[in-house]
Amino acid sequence: MVAEPKLISDLKRTHSCGSLRAGDIGEKVVLFGWVHGRRDLGGCVFVDLRDRHGLTQVVFDPTVEATAHGMASELRGEYVVGIQGTVRSRGHQINESMPTGEIEVAASRVEIFSKADTPPFHIEDEIDTGEQLLLRYRYLDLRRRPLQNILVRRSRMAQATRTFLDSEGFLELETPFLTKSTPEGARDYLVPSRVNPGKWFALPQSPQLFKQLFMVAGFDRYFQIVKCFRDEDLRADRQPEFTQIDLEMSFVCEEDVLSLVEGMMSAILEADGKEAVPRPFPRLTFDEAMSRFGSDKPDVRFGLELVDVSDIARKSGFRVFADAVDKGGIVSAINAKGADLSRSKIDGLAEEVAIHGAKGLAWAKVKPEGWQGPVAKVVSEQAREQIVERLGAVPGDVLFFVADRREVVLASLGHLRLVLGEMLSLIPKDVLSFVWVTDFPLLDYDEEQGRWVALHHPFTSPREEDIPRLEKDPGSVRARAYDLALNGNEIGGGSIRIHDRSVQEMVFRTLGLSEEEQQAKFGFLLDAFRFGAPPHGGIAMGFDRIVMLLTGASSIRDTIPFPKTLRAVDVMTDAPSEVDSRQLEELHVKNVL
Ligand code: AMO
Ligand code: AMP
Repeated sequence: MVAEPKLISDLKRTHSCGSLRAGDIGEKVVLFGWVHGRRDLGGCVFVDLRDRHGLTQVVFDPTVEATAHGMASELRGEYVVGIQGTVRSRGHQINESMPTGEIEVAASRVEIFSKADTPPFHIEDEIDTGEQLLLRYRYLDLRRRPLQNILVRRSRMAQATRTFLDSEGFLELETPFLTKSTPEGARDYLVPSRVNPGKWFALPQSPQLFKQLFMVAGFDRYFQIVKCFRDEDLRADRQPEFTQIDLEMSFVCEEDVLSLVEGMMSAILEADGKEAVPRPFPRLTFDEAMSRFGSDKPDVRFGLELVDVSDIARKSGFRVFADAVDKGGIVSAINAKGADLSRSKIDGLAEEVAIHGAKGLAWAKVKPEGWQGPVAKVVSEQAREQIVERLGAVPGDVLFFVADRREVVLASLGHLRLVLGEMLSLIPKDVLSFVWVTDFPLLDYDEEQGRWVALHHPFTSPREEDIPRLEKDPGSVRARAYDLALNGNEIGGGSIRIHDRSVQEMVFRTLGLSEEEQQAKFGFLLDAFRFGAPPHGGIAMGFDRIVMLLTGASSIRDTIPFPKTLRAVDVMTDAPSEVDSRQLEELHVKNVL
């Protein structure tokens, strides 16, 4: 007789599938879970029962209970069952690799709660199924232990964040998802308003303005673990909806925010079982980070720093170098110490720097008898000696140079540094290296738009002493902004804010916003500043990225239960999708496709 699934059972779960140990031998227990695997050894049937806590071996022994043993033959992978039985020793069959490996449960009764079709892929720790299929059946992929572990750790990190911030006097306050579209920033996700024909909400790119208004309202310390929405081009570390640990504090300066965040990150590391990281975290100014690492989120786990050799290169006799410097550019170098690189590898590296606009990659191998390589002969002997000295080069090293505009040199060598670091196995994988980057410029000139744009966002305070230069020399104004990088990833960014209406208006003007636009887009903020705004500042941390880096996940998709693909699609629910023309009509929206 085939057993029908039971919807209601009198069985009551006594243990999880990960909890039984030798000390439980002799206990009568009830386990609920999924059939992970079944082995029929003629006499006994063995089933591994799985829940999110672990696996327990269940044995259906005809000498223990014939009916249960009979039913065991019906069990298939991913059936959901309840099992009653007695814990017994595995004798000499102990499985050291399983926490429950000392015991097994001899089943006396089994109930099938739910049958299962054969899943489209095995629910195993390691599988090589294509991502589309995994995402389509995400709920099955999420049954796999590696993904479950990441989400369990994510949950712990979120709880640690809450506990820490609560103990520091922060209030967890919510902000709206249906908000106003404002310029500056990424593209918005828009939501049409049915009751206000022709008008649109935007999903928030961050709660930035609301958290500032909380400060104006006197809440003093706010935080939220909150979804943000940005319609931007996606990458392995970017999702269209992602989670920030967002916080804001009144009456603070940079030091207060930095040390608070260091405490919070330490609490998160501790919750994840990581070793403590020394505090305060190291700091680099933006200029130092760029000139030494070619990045505003430097990976400081290894050396291979960039070294400016413009002064030597200019008088080196090599036309490419001299021209670049004469045109206002720079020449920088990286010394790949002891790198035994083949010609084809070096040619590959030239392609890497080309991605960032470098027109060439000059290189030389340092040999006991002198330099070897395409620029060996064209660089004067004196320049070669000076370069060797500045780079601390010895025979066996390989030197790389890029000559170009400063941005191109730093970006391309910054990228080359990371490629070389990987290639030469110089990056320690089990180290967590935090570094603050400070003293960013306030503004960046956007050639395409032909105007200044905010490097962070327009609410970032300029340094007080730089304010007089805001309208005359915007590029020279420094921001009271800071970013936190972890192992070469930007995991957070924030600033001390403007709380003075006239300074805010001046920044808006510099960004090219007319008075009318300022009023239409940000009138509520400018108004709020008229009624007593405290000095304030804060930060937002990219929570998905933090989880990715601490768990070693290869993409932030693995840290988000239901993520989108790189094409911003949810392949499980098939969103986004078409909607009924009636729905569009109600929303006063016309589909022009
Ligand atoms: P910012 O735009 O720098 O600052 O965002 C803060 C942090 O959020 C993470 N992040 C992302 N993570 C995943 N996918 C994305 N698309 C994505 N975009 C950003 C990054 C980043 O450092 N309101 C300001 C913060 C402030 O000034 O307080 C803000 O949103 O780790
Ligand atoms: P060329 O004189 O242009 O033939 O270049 C000689 C060498 O210099 C080649 O190895 C090029 O890759 C390299 N090179 C050319 N332009 C640059 C540049 N802007 N920066 C660094 N190296 C360059």
